[in-house]
Amino acid sequence: MSNEAAIQYDGKGRLRHLVTLEGVARETIEAILDRAQAVADGDAGAGGTQGILANLFYEPSTRTRCSFEIAAGRLGWQVLNIAESTSSLVKGETLAETARTLAAMGVTALAIRHSEAETVRRVAEAAPDRLAVINAGAGSADHPTQGLLDALTIRQRKGSLENLAIAICGDVRHSRVARSDIHAFSALGASDIRLVGPKELLPESTPEGCIPVHDMEQGLRGADVVIMLRIQKERMAAAAVPDPDDYHRAWGLDAERLKLAKPDCLVMHPGPANQGVEITMEVLHGPQSAIQSQVKNGVYVRVALLAMLSPGD
Ligand code: NCD
Repeated sequence: MSNEAAIQYDGKGRLRHLVTLEGVARETIEAILDRAQAVADGDAGAGGTQGILANLFYEPSTRTRCSFEIAAGRLGWQVLNIAESTSSLVKGETLAETARTLAAMGVTALAIRHSEAETVRRVAEAAPDRLAVINAGAGSADHPTQGLLDALTIRQRKGSLENLAIAICGDVRHSRVARSDIHAFSALGASDIRLVGPKELLPESTPEGCIPVHDMEQGLRGADVVIMLRIQKERMAAAAVPDPDDYHRAWGLDAERLKLAKPDCLVMHPGPANQGVEITMEVLHGPQSAIQSQVKNGVYVRVALLAMLSPGD
């Protein structure tokens, strides 16, 4: 296990933070998904634990921040939303120091989104005993709750991830969603994970267990699941951003291309989508789209995680 993965466990090997899905055991992922599924099926998921969640988002977010807030609300928790411009970070306080201060006030969980993956890891390392740190999206590196909600969505619709052909398409190189999806899907036994996109948008070294495909049609053929990604303009030089029309012609998903996949292929997108660029409006909201399930499952996964990581559970 890498050091990065090791910091998220306590002395007894129990998960106490969620910084990355890298190296997280299949049983642990399944336990989170099972609990999230119980919440989806009507279990309040609370387990009696009380807590306070602080959302610390240093990059734009609507769905992830709201999802954490709604999840905490389902548990009867109090929620603090701390925006950068109103926090002491503007006075030079480090995020680790802010975390300690919040913990002293009784905050039990932090959901952090940051452009630097290293920052989230440092906060987890410095966190006092009763504070759980959850990565809500860090740079291009990790977005573990998205990986979990995507895995849950696929499991619900397909029963299992084993033997599925999953195509992750577009700007995989800069996507934290893709990285966390790959960790989750591989841990759950997916054996045909295709990374589909132009060379410059795929990772320089292909993650273990994945296959790079530089042709959209070939990548889609026979797929059970297709995950479309937004071009992460904010993580690349302006000159490298492809022209939207050219990109759409070569790599966009439309109804015609989707026919190459299996007839019951699920279409997923973490949002926000650029309609007409990586995906058409028709497909995004079409009969094969699972985007609403993804959003719902996001709440269930976060309820499960908050309950599981909080002390006393
Ligand atoms: C993603 C993110 O922020 O990483 N969105 C999300 O959390 N649902 C994907 C993106 O921004 O493209």
